[in-house]
Amino acid sequence: MSSGRYLLHHGLLLPTVAHTKESLKYAQDFHVEDTDVFVVTYPKSGTTWMQEIIPLVLNGGDLTPVQTIPNWDRVPWLEETRTALVVDHLTSPRALATHLPYQLMPASFFSSKAKVIYVTRNPKDVMVSSYHFHKMASFLDDPGTFEEFMDKFLKGKVLFGKWTDHVKSWRHADLGDRILHITYEEMNQDLHGALRRFSDFLGCNLSEEAIDGIAHQCCFNNMRKNSMSNYSLVPQNIMDSSKSPFLRKGISGDWKNHFSPEQEAQFSSVIAAEMEGESLSFPWDL
Ligand code: A3P
Repeated sequence: MSSGRYLLHHGLLLPTVAHTKESLKYAQDFHVEDTDVFVVTYPKSGTTWMQEIIPLVLNGGDLTPVQTIPNWDRVPWLEETRTALVVDHLTSPRALATHLPYQLMPASFFSSKAKVIYVTRNPKDVMVSSYHFHKMASFLDDPGTFEEFMDKFLKGKVLFGKWTDHVKSWRHADLGDRILHITYEEMNQDLHGALRRFSDFLGCNLSEEAIDGIAHQCCFNNMRKNSMSNYSLVPQNIMDSSKSPFLRKGISGDWKNHFSPEQEAQFSSVIAAEMEGESLSFPWDL
């Protein structure tokens, strides 16, 4: 781990490019409103996709926000330095993103009525996506070989710690009907159905036509062309899309192109042991 690139927050590794002690204090003290909507993910699980989807769902399919505001200001990350700068420009209901585990949410979140959409993605594809992201993002350490990165991933020596800890923290969250769980794989298989679930959950009552329009805007190929969402506004010396585009493949099962049978067996056995007793029904083999 290269010093200076990361800081430790309650044992979790966070990149200093976007996180400071002050931004984390700001997040802890953040005043959550009852109407707030939080998109919660472990990194590389579809956050950017949700930053496109949720403003459209909340605004009845109006494309203006996704065509004019970069994703990081449209649905800012609670724990990042930008939030304090842009929060006053967010219109109600505000949409925020976070990679924080449940127990590190702001104190005011727990007594609020704010809603949460938690997106889970197959950890094998999360790791593959993260591996390529580390190659293109100059503010992160080189991932090393795939084998070396897998070792770090399984030990939680990666951004925001262990995948299993993150997922379990939000699966055990005592939020009743304030939380909706969905998987990246479900969104990929049936985006229209996922959008209907978001609309119902957020009480937006969208028409079928509006949902079709949002699905069109949010499909991988269209998002890839949207400069407000594809990170092309970030200078190449910070994110080099010639090494790997941020919106890379957008598929389920790319892990099959990366894991050897032995690596897959080892990865699956570690994750299965840590997820034992969890009622997570998940298409692990997708
Ligand atoms: P891949 O690297 O597997 O392509 P995050 O935004 O949490 O960092 O997650 C990034 C991953 O979500 C990338 O996965 C990216 O391509 C994928 N993604 C972003 N928008 C998507 C979309 N519209 N459809 C499918 N996948 C999408």
